[in-house]
Amino acid sequence: MTSLAVAVIGAGYWGPNLARNFHANDQWRLAAICDLDLERAQALAARYNGARASSSIDEVLADPAIDAVAIATPARTHHGIALAALAAGKHVVVEKPIADSSERAREMVDAARTAGLVLMTDHTYCYTPAVLKIRELIEAGELGDILFVDSVRVNLGLVQPDVDVFWDLAPHDLSIIDFVLPGGLVPQSAAATGGDPLGAGKACVGYLALPLADGAVAHVHVNWLSPTKIRQMIIGGSRRTLVWDDLNPQQRLSVYDRGVDLQTQALDRIERATATVSYRLGDTWAPALTEREALDAMVSEFAAAIHGGRAPRTDGDAGLRVLAVLEAASRSLASGGGAVPIVDAIQLTGELA
Ligand SMILES: NC(=O)c1ccc[n+]([C@@H]2O[C@H](COP(=O)([O-])OP(=O)(O)OC[C@H]3O[C@@H](n4cnc5c(N)ncnc54)[C@H](O)[C@@H]3O)[C@@H](O)[C@H]2O)c1
Repeated sequence: MTSLAVAVIGAGYWGPNLARNFHANDQWRLAAICDLDLERAQALAARYNGARASSSIDEVLADPAIDAVAIATPARTHHGIALAALAAGKHVVVEKPIADSSERAREMVDAARTAGLVLMTDHTYCYTPAVLKIRELIEAGELGDILFVDSVRVNLGLVQPDVDVFWDLAPHDLSIIDFVLPGGLVPQSAAATGGDPLGAGKACVGYLALPLADGAVAHVHVNWLSPTKIRQMIIGGSRRTLVWDDLNPQQRLSVYDRGVDLQTQALDRIERATATVSYRLGDTWAPALTEREALDAMVSEFAAAIHGGRAPRTDGDAGLRVLAVLEAASRSLASGGGAVPIVDAIQLTGELA
């Protein structure tokens, strides 16, 4: 299969990681680096034979040899650059968050669909061996029905000037939950509680509760003020429970054959039921994980989606679902922490089904 030519737009912090992975992947040819800051683009392009530098997106998009662009510029610029790239007939992979509002993200999704082009969101974590394995185990029914997801992402983090802790950290948890749950993350509502104990002017500690279908629930805890770093997700199922500890390279994933069973019995003629709780105590095992850089798997998936004329695993809709939850979290915070409906995401999924 011939390689596809890609231009990386944005050569700041994250763009160089994309450039390195496109260059190293034989399904791709890194054709151009574009940044408003030409010197920055030149410095990055100089590392890769055959990649040219430009400060003009129009010039890059006018090149018929370029098949796709990877957008690694600030979120507020994603919408304009993606629409221009799609209008020029280029496939697009865009960094998270897909856009700065769900309306704009939706326009991007619609434009890609109308043009018959691939629009992918780089939800990088979804391409880590651990998350790919979690998705595989859930898909194979190893955990049974999902009962709860509990995600903790805390550390001593930089208080960001433009976003609160939900927008900074929770996109990772939300994109992962969206990726591993069958049918994606489509909560009925979101309730967010935020804390700003230092008076930074924005939530630095956040708790987000997301009721899922059939009584299941997801909870995301994010925190910039914790002296210990924790990256842990517990996914409880009716058959088994999985624990992902991303900071434990010896055993990132543990599957527990333990859990709680509930038997309900009809007690009397008016059928009042009582529940008996019993505990299953079984083995714990650690699934084997391959070693592969997540961004390499991500750029391969982008190429496979283009060649196969199919949606990538983390498509524009996945980006949109994550954004809809973040926006609902902000609405909930602004209204004092009550549950707010996530109408957009539900409507969106209905329309796409
Ligand atoms: N997937 C991940 O894990 C991950 C990690 C970090 C950042 N990101 C995302 O990557 C994106 C970029 O973040 P960053 O930290 O690299 O930002 P950055 O500010 O370090 O770099 C952005 C670059 O884009 C350039 N730029 C801005 N507007 C442009 C335009 N219109 N045309 C061309 N170039 C333009 C700037 O000159 C700058 O060099 C963000 O969406 C961020 O959320 C993703």
